[in-house]
Amino acid sequence: MNLLRFFPPALMLGSILLAAPGGAAPQTIKPGETWPDDRGRHVQAHGGGIIKLGDTYFWFGEDRSEDNDPGKRYVACYSSKDLAHWTFRNQVIKLSDPENFGPKWVLERPKVFYNEKTKKFVMYMHIDGPSPTSDPRNGYALARVGIATCDTVDGDYQYLKSFRPLGLESRDIGQFIDDDGSAYLVFESRPKRGFYIARLSDDYLDVEKEVCFIRSPLEGGAIVHYDGLYYAIGSRLTGWAPNANKYATAPSLSGPWTEFQDIAPPETKTYGSQSTMMIKVAGAKATTVIFMADIWKPKTQWDSRYLWMPLEIGGGKLWLPEPRPWTLDMETGEARIVE
Ligand code: GAL
Repeated sequence: MNLLRFFPPALMLGSILLAAPGGAAPQTIKPGETWPDDRGRHVQAHGGGIIKLGDTYFWFGEDRSEDNDPGKRYVACYSSKDLAHWTFRNQVIKLSDPENFGPKWVLERPKVFYNEKTKKFVMYMHIDGPSPTSDPRNGYALARVGIATCDTVDGDYQYLKSFRPLGLESRDIGQFIDDDGSAYLVFESRPKRGFYIARLSDDYLDVEKEVCFIRSPLEGGAIVHYDGLYYAIGSRLTGWAPNANKYATAPSLSGPWTEFQDIAPPETKTYGSQSTMMIKVAGAKATTVIFMADIWKPKTQWDSRYLWMPLEIGGGKLWLPEPRPWTLDMETGEARIVE
């Protein structure tokens, strides 16, 4: 019996395999379920970002643990070599209000970049809260990015400053590191209603240059460079509530970008999730692009889940298959659906 079969190439599923029922799947990623770390606690890395150093991935994200001090904001860091088993490293940010933002300040969607020149790790985060000059009910009026740095990937990051990138309102942020190593911040901006892709300065401590403004009201911006094309995914602006995420493609980061199209059946609202990042795993046989998304639980944030799935991608098309447990072979780069 043929235990493995390829999905039809017409569906651009070249790297996704079906695994045999009962087949050994030691590193199964289970979209939507709790994801225990090495201590058996659900990973707290919501709205996260991932960087790879050598053969190790580091996942940073909002740590919304129920027992956190409500006066502080936390970012946790985990490491993994297979993207399935995650070891808790540190609460790399445990921050009391750093600039008198007031009790309602927020720190969301942290993203860490490693700067080769300065040998520093630079964390960008969405910093927000009511502004002294606006309606106090508007908790997202500051619209800034904050920066914190560290000499080691999982040390205690030191908060430096906050600002509006390119002088513009910035809310959800995303990170993109191109194949040549150049680092970009993606940020949603109003009132222009769209998102920017902007290059970081040499030391990564500033956002230097607008590369593109994509005029579409989308946030949760995620970008991947795959087989000669850039693919961007974003979600509509519906707060914690899920919506139908969309994608567009472009031959270069500066565009021109196609119209946005659904990444999944729109009625599923991206299977209840919101985009945060895409990562590309290139192995000996295949390159898999993983869609990383958050399934938010606004009232029990610590229990918010993750939807990670290998995408069907290629030739300008992108599709999020219905979430199912799957495994990833780091050697071959092949993703395997567990039946
Ligand atoms: C979402 C955003 C989250 C968080 C939330 C608050 O749109 O992606 O990061 O800011 O709104 O309502």
